[in-house]
Amino acid sequence: MKRVQVAIIGAGPSGLLLGHILDRAGIETIILENRSADYVLARVRAGLLEQGTTDLLRETGLGQRLDRDGLVHHGLSLAFDGELHRIDLTASSGKTVTIYGQTEVTHDLMDARAASGAPTIYEAQNVTPHNFDGASPRVTYVKDGVTHEIACDFIAGCDGFHGVSRQSVPQAALTTYERVYPFGWLGILAEVPPADHELVYANSPRGFALCTMRSNTRSRYYVQCPIGDKVEDWSDQRFWDEVRRRVDPQTAEKITTGPSFEKSIAPLRSFVAEPLRFGRLFLVGDAAHIVPPTGAKGLNLAVSDVRYLSEGIIGHYAEKSDDGLDRYSDRALNRIWKAVRFSWWMTTMLHRFPDATPFDQKIQEADLAYLVASQAAMTSLSENYVGLPH
Ligand code: FAD
Ligand code: DHB
Repeated sequence: MKRVQVAIIGAGPSGLLLGHILDRAGIETIILENRSADYVLARVRAGLLEQGTTDLLRETGLGQRLDRDGLVHHGLSLAFDGELHRIDLTASSGKTVTIYGQTEVTHDLMDARAASGAPTIYEAQNVTPHNFDGASPRVTYVKDGVTHEIACDFIAGCDGFHGVSRQSVPQAALTTYERVYPFGWLGILAEVPPADHELVYANSPRGFALCTMRSNTRSRYYVQCPIGDKVEDWSDQRFWDEVRRRVDPQTAEKITTGPSFEKSIAPLRSFVAEPLRFGRLFLVGDAAHIVPPTGAKGLNLAVSDVRYLSEGIIGHYAEKSDDGLDRYSDRALNRIWKAVRFSWWMTTMLHRFPDATPFDQKIQEADLAYLVASQAAMTSLSENYVGLPH
């Protein structure tokens, strides 16, 4: 049986970043991932990093490509009622956000792990955590038909919403909270310049739309769509026509269209499982919580979880103190719930809900009108959007 200090399940951003930080602290890890490295790298997801996220990436030696290719934004715009309203995030919060795709973050983390020589087992089947209630946890997995067993001090469940880690916890030990939204986001990537140098979030009678980007030559657009829609229902032409109808005329004018090279539909959900610690098993990132994408909190929350857990694990080995591990769940949940609230609020304010009453519609309009007329409201949006302190 092999032995490591920390076994990490999942090589998404949470697992790779935790592995990277622990490796730099001289702590031995193994990462077990059930997909291939190419599959993980090809998954198009988040794109907007909070300042706390970019600070941590830089602190841990991952700033080089980020500083070269990341696009730093100082504001965003809201489009509704045919008009565009800019919110100056930096003036209100003193901070910025950075466009740098999750695929790029993953790429940098995979390169760092390869350079360190620390092991990642891709295409590991049947990964299963055992005995995390006791002092000697183990993880088993099957690779190329052979079963392997790893003894460890701690297991980090970084395996996303559908992973095995949360499912391994006895139901009675978990409390879950959930809201499922009655629509999805259809997203595309296209090799065209963005409509604006900053993001445009649109609320229109036809539903929500978001104009975002991955670089100055690559755009990402999203539209709210019925939950039952299929990607095949949406030709590129239909998609571009719909985005143009949902944004203000000024932005519609500036949209450059072109063939999409990625198109996918994501459901929207808020979900939190509590607590995040079960003996020697810790849940991290999407394994413990999901937010709707409005406001771009998912990846950023995964990063703050990793910061807290890595501090706890390093404290255990370096300072012989379990204080950080004992506080991990409460510390992370405190920040998680604030991001869950913010994502829910942004989603509620910007989407058309199929079951909305005329009263709900009026409240939504008042929410938007208040936001763009009140410095206090813009400051509140800004401090949440750029990310609450870690
Ligand atoms: P994941 O990225 O899900 O990584 C988990 C890893 O564990 C995966 O590699 C998976 O293959 C692996 N795994 C799963 N099960 C097992 C198992 N049994 N054994 C071993 N390995 C396993 N966030 C934003 O902020 N902005 C966005 O625009 C945005 N868009 C998104 C679009 C989509 C379609 C999705 C699904 C998510 C999006 N998110 C977005 C959320 C963001 O991508 C996630 O919050 C982020 O990926 C969380 O990272 P993670 O490492 O915790 O989980
Ligand atoms: C992106 C996604 C979001 O959900 C968001 O609020 C901002 C940006 C993106 O994919 O770039």
